[in-house]
Amino acid sequence: EKGGYEHFMLKEMYEQPKAITDTVAPRIKEEQIVIEELGMSDEEIKSIQKIMIVACGSAYHAGVTSKYIFEGLARIPVEVDVASEFRYRDPILGDGTLVLIISQSGETADSLAALREAKRKGSKVLGIVNVVGSSIAREADNVMYTWAGPEIAVATTKAYSSQLAALYLLAMKFAGVRGKITPELQREMLSDLRKLPKQVEVLLKQQEKVQKFANRYLAAKDIFFIGRGIDYAISMEGSLKLKEISYIHSEAYAAGELKHGTISLIEEGTLVAAVLTQEDLYKKMISNMVEVRTRGAFVLAITNEGNTEVERAADYVLYIPKTNKYFTNSLAIIPLQLFGYYVSVGRGCDVDKPRNLAKSVTVE
Ligand code: M6R
Repeated sequence: EKGGYEHFMLKEMYEQPKAITDTVAPRIKEEQIVIEELGMSDEEIKSIQKIMIVACGSAYHAGVTSKYIFEGLARIPVEVDVASEFRYRDPILGDGTLVLIISQSGETADSLAALREAKRKGSKVLGIVNVVGSSIAREADNVMYTWAGPEIAVATTKAYSSQLAALYLLAMKFAGVRGKITPELQREMLSDLRKLPKQVEVLLKQQEKVQKFANRYLAAKDIFFIGRGIDYAISMEGSLKLKEISYIHSEAYAAGELKHGTISLIEEGTLVAAVLTQEDLYKKMISNMVEVRTRGAFVLAITNEGNTEVERAADYVLYIPKTNKYFTNSLAIIPLQLFGYYVSVGRGCDVDKPRNLAKSVTVE
């Protein structure tokens, strides 16, 4: 069933272009974003005052990415919380709060409890779910399915990528209805969205290159991921991918926070993966890279094609193709997934079934 791939995780990484296409294509009709299952009129979309996103693990990371887009593009305030915190903190869900529950399995106990809590408080709940007919899909007021297909590996890849794609569509839809994007910008973004699957395919071809690089870090003690803005969100996902399957300690930091503590952990040769895809933040990121490098770090940069300036502050650079600034996470995650995967393979770990973890966390 692995279709010739050594692991489900690798197979599922290669299924990402299709997962993105299957999630996006059915929702674009004559250059308009149509999300029928949303069950919201334009008036209702206009009256949203706040979006509360609740999820766990990678689904939470997809939520964090989308916060930047809902806020930046649609100008709707967003709060993101992990379900295990949300459910016990008596959250304030006023009138006009739309709650999004994101889950691959649709069975995560904390996410399901969060959904019930949100409904109890009278909020409308939209589920972004992969498994059709799962508990979260059944109990949410409305469901927007991600069409990634069955995912077997514990470390999520294609489901995460399809969550991002669904969230892009939702944010663009809201922005359009609320008059925050021009039809030209929407057309341009849709065209970039349609290019993502091909671009992901191209990035997957860097497989061998990333494997060679990963092999240098099989004995690493700590690995850090840094980014700013939306790149901080992808740093969190990159760090989780690595640690859950390789058992190497790793953390993600908002690059500007380094000076407030983390930088003292940098030793000679510590790997710091810096993600910089946001042009307005290049300079700030480069200065953070210089800071860690001066303290002995080996800096791997993941940045946009053309940003060769980064080479003066990095020891190794992986480029991603150009896309809309809100879609870069879909591309930057590919080398990070490959990196985690190959470190895990190189260390002889059980890639698809890492120790102590379950695919779907149905207990608290
Ligand atoms: O099924 P869900 O999307 O609700 O699962 C949430 C997390 O358990 C999940 O994303 C987990 O963090 C993955 N192992 C990450 O790869």
